[in-house]
Amino acid sequence: MMLPTRQRAIEIGFAGGPEALVLREIAVPRPRTDEVLIEIVAAGVNRHDCNQRKAGPRDGLNPVPGLEVSGRVIACGADVPVSRLGEEVVALTNGGGYAEYVTAPAALALPRPNKLDWLSSAALPEALFTIWLNFFELMHLSPGENVLIHGGTSGVGSIGIQLLKAMGHDVYATAGSDEKCLAATSFGANGCFRYDDPELKERVLNATCRRGVNCILDMSGGAHVDQDLAMLASDGRLAFLSAGGGATPKLPLRALMASRIRLTGALLRVLPMDRKIAIADRLRDAVWPLLGKEIRPHVDRWFTLDQAVEAHRHMERGRHIGKIMLSIRPD
Ligand SMILES: NC(=O)c1ccc[n+]([C@@H]2O[C@H](COP(=O)([O-])OP(=O)(O)OC[C@H]3O[C@@H](n4cnc5c(N)ncnc54)[C@H](OP(=O)(O)O)[C@@H]3O)[C@@H](O)[C@H]2O)c1
Repeated sequence: MMLPTRQRAIEIGFAGGPEALVLREIAVPRPRTDEVLIEIVAAGVNRHDCNQRKAGPRDGLNPVPGLEVSGRVIACGADVPVSRLGEEVVALTNGGGYAEYVTAPAALALPRPNKLDWLSSAALPEALFTIWLNFFELMHLSPGENVLIHGGTSGVGSIGIQLLKAMGHDVYATAGSDEKCLAATSFGANGCFRYDDPELKERVLNATCRRGVNCILDMSGGAHVDQDLAMLASDGRLAFLSAGGGATPKLPLRALMASRIRLTGALLRVLPMDRKIAIADRLRDAVWPLLGKEIRPHVDRWFTLDQAVEAHRHMERGRHIGKIMLSIRPD
């Protein structure tokens, strides 16, 4: 098969608002030895993409945003078995997803779940890798433990609720409106509370028979640190997903020491490749059998590639519930 040489893609033209996303014709990348080239059907839009756009083009960073795709493998690097040609995959990419073609490490391109459509499939990688990394690798969530996810209707949170419930954990969540709390409950949360409720701590403690939660995932940039520490059970863990534009929260060290709390956090994008591959292997074994059954991503809305500006506007309005997607080509 003759490989395409040119493609349409969205690039970050400058640091700015959604209008900084520019549709351009650019070269189709060629896979490195351990990579595959994917003909993209759908791609996920993540908050990370908005942050990257606001910061503007940076040396060493793919100017095409987009961290997750679904599509077909149309070329393999020298070290990748050619038997993978034609495979339908979902992949975690290192940028490049707002395009018609993207390369991805072959080990991070997993089989497309056959019970999910292309859009829902592309909604999975960023959320699943993030949830697995934070809850299982960093916070060592154990059987029988419960969790709290701030931002329960975010792309990450909505899929996280479904995954952790399917794995047998009690899941509590927070959200910014009553409508979003209802949605989080419909995704399976045992309870969802407004994060702006001054009684949040009491509500979570009451819901957990005053024991508190074992693990908290925080995407608010540390806006709730005091409350989080008070809601954690002894030996609890708190993971930060967002640095909140450089927030430096004050820590009540005495409370932290008295309850032996552990704080952690990570940036998935710069996680060493061997650790990403280890997570991919765990997801394939433990999570792939649940996809299309207990785990079905909720797609809030999708846009075409040339509507990427509108997709970012939609994300920044903050009214979405679940995932925002790009439909790159008809399936
Ligand atoms: N570190 C990493 O490797 C990594 C990986 C993936 C994602 N992330 C981060 O995880 C977050 C979610 O990503 P996404 O793409 O799923 O974005 P998203 O759909 O836009 O979700 C953002 C979420 O943040 C919630 N939120 C905002 N302010 C809050 C507050 N004060 N308290 C509690 N929740 C609050 C929002 O809740 P409401 O809508 O209810 O207001 C919303 O659910 C982003 O901050 C992203 O940068 C980090």
